[in-house]
Amino acid sequence: MDTDARQPLVVDTGNPEKFEKIPRHIAIIMDGNGRWAQKRGLDRAEGHRAGVQALKPIVKESAKLGVQVLTVYAFSTENWSRPQIEVNALWDLLVEYLRIETPELKSEGVRIQTIGNVDALPSRAQKAIDGAKEDTREQTRMVLNLALNYGGRDELVRAVNRWLDECRPVSRARYVTASAIAEHLDTAGLPDPDLLIRSSGELRISNFLLWQLAYAEIYVTNTLWPDFNPMELRKAIRAYQQRDRRFGGLRE
Ligand code: IPE
Ligand code: IPE
Ligand code: MG
Repeated sequence: MDTDARQPLVVDTGNPEKFEKIPRHIAIIMDGNGRWAQKRGLDRAEGHRAGVQALKPIVKESAKLGVQVLTVYAFSTENWSRPQIEVNALWDLLVEYLRIETPELKSEGVRIQTIGNVDALPSRAQKAIDGAKEDTREQTRMVLNLALNYGGRDELVRAVNRWLDECRPVSRARYVTASAIAEHLDTAGLPDPDLLIRSSGELRISNFLLWQLAYAEIYVTNTLWPDFNPMELRKAIRAYQQRDRRFGGLRE
């Protein structure tokens, strides 16, 4: 956590060995918007607005460093239990974010995708998501994966049910395999996250990517999400680069 963010990072030099040092997939739990607002005597919605603003430089920096997938937890299946006014403000912010940022994301080569059950979102949000996905469909530099109405358990249940649907009639049902599950998750086709970042100091996963985080390196910072900036991101990546990833095996 106390690595020097000013040190140069390993960037794409055309040398694949060095390029590997940049996590292919970074997942972020963008937490702490409410506390950020509270500290300033502001409404929680203002914290979320500041949180949305903090995302843009992180997306840009990630693309610049050669990250291939950036997954951000924006709304969990449990976040519906918040006051209706806060939930509405979050969907309004999503719609506004996509309207304003999609053209620039597109010009940066970013493809927008989502995970989570978006069918349950208000229709204005669904429309904005469909438009942003369509507009950026052909971009290949980086995937910005928005986790919306996402829960790891919900995703697993939906994945198994999708698989069962494909197995019908029941007489043809097979035993489920790990790859069958992975291929039916919302993240099908994406590599598992190498690095999980959580802002605001909480030491929990909060139902995020339960399957996919099996071997992710975890980095927690006390910084509240609206204050998280590219320097913080580089600090997290530098910490990641110093980890010894053994995947249950032994060190070389
Ligand atoms: C994260 O910030 C954003 C969402 C969950 C939508 P919080 O709103 O959870 O902020 P804190 O944890 O209350 O500070
Ligand atoms: C996780 O944060 C969800 C998002 C960041 C979208 P929460 O604030 O909802 O998680 P808990 O309640 O602290 O576990
Ligand atoms: Mg929180």
